[in-house]
Amino acid sequence: MIYFDNAATSLIKPIQVKRAVMNALDHFTANPGRSGHFKSMEVAEQIFDTREIVKNFFNATDYDVIFTKNCTEALNLAIFGSLKSGDHVVTSCYEHNSVLRPLEYLKEKGVEVTVIDSDLIDFANELESSIKDNTKMVICTMVSNVNGEFSDLNKISEVCKKHDIIYLVDGAQSSGHMQVDLKSTGVDMYAFAGHKGLLSISGVGGLIVKKGINLRPILYGGTGTDSENLIQPTSIPEGLEAGTISSIPIISLKEGISYIQKNFSNIIKKEENLSNYLYKSLKKLNFLTIYSKENAKNVISFNMENVDSSYLANVLNEKYKICVRAGLHCAPLIHKKLNTLESGAVRVSLDFNNTFDEIDNLIMALKSIYLSLS
Ligand code: ALA
Repeated sequence: MIYFDNAATSLIKPIQVKRAVMNALDHFTANPGRSGHFKSMEVAEQIFDTREIVKNFFNATDYDVIFTKNCTEALNLAIFGSLKSGDHVVTSCYEHNSVLRPLEYLKEKGVEVTVIDSDLIDFANELESSIKDNTKMVICTMVSNVNGEFSDLNKISEVCKKHDIIYLVDGAQSSGHMQVDLKSTGVDMYAFAGHKGLLSISGVGGLIVKKGINLRPILYGGTGTDSENLIQPTSIPEGLEAGTISSIPIISLKEGISYIQKNFSNIIKKEENLSNYLYKSLKKLNFLTIYSKENAKNVISFNMENVDSSYLANVLNEKYKICVRAGLHCAPLIHKKLNTLESGAVRVSLDFNNTFDEIDNLIMALKSIYLSLS
């Protein structure tokens, strides 16, 4: 089989991650942060270490890490935790529904939303003219999950700083695939998923928040602190992590990030080479329309002429055991811009475990399918 659905989740987890999960099931199954006994404290220490490694990986020394169950929950926390009626938000047409749907809900509650329709790399240039007196937040994905386009964090951050606006980045597709330096770019909040490029098992994501930013909780319940108080504490991270956290996925995240840190320059180089090769190989097939640019980060989408994207993905799956994703990829506005709202698109998303041979196999399969249909 060939797995090209890494934007949905990474399939192959390093042996260190698997061992850490097995070890955690043996030793770290107590509830951290609730009881004072040594089994609880051992897990709490693992969670603490993971927060530190996340901060270190994203150069986020003046930030806090709030663990969530996934990137969607982290984005919801940032959005619902910050915005109120009368606020204005600027975002891009490349956003995932995990940004667009919260914003759509908030529109009914009196939040104004401006969507910039430019290419993602030009978002920063268009931003200034969309800013209003009541603009509270700018939300922009770092890498599109539909076509691998990317945004310019430095430039967006500059505009946000100038106008004292909170800058929230959706890092679902960039984390573990690109260098992300939160401190030097000045991003205020960064949401990530553990199970994609960071190689953890599923069940953990997080929001990295610059110190000084206050968030309202979106989940109410036990925090293991201030327990006599019926009002939810807003202390970061505990107040925003109500309920028992996902210790084992979090411990696996520690190993996933450690693995990437040790191999990061090779991972980035290999993924760049694979992306270039995939793009060039697909470009040679004149029966395809490609929706990605040459410098796409790991994600390339296309359609075959006169063939439905879901049908093509099914044939790749059933006949060739090649796993891709088709359809709308939960990001409808970018599909509208690419004119693929009806058809969807076939998406190939890579990670460093893929090979050039696998790409050659995909190309051969696409040629055979096209010939068989024409
Ligand atoms: N958002 C993930 C994807 O693009 C699930 O497939």
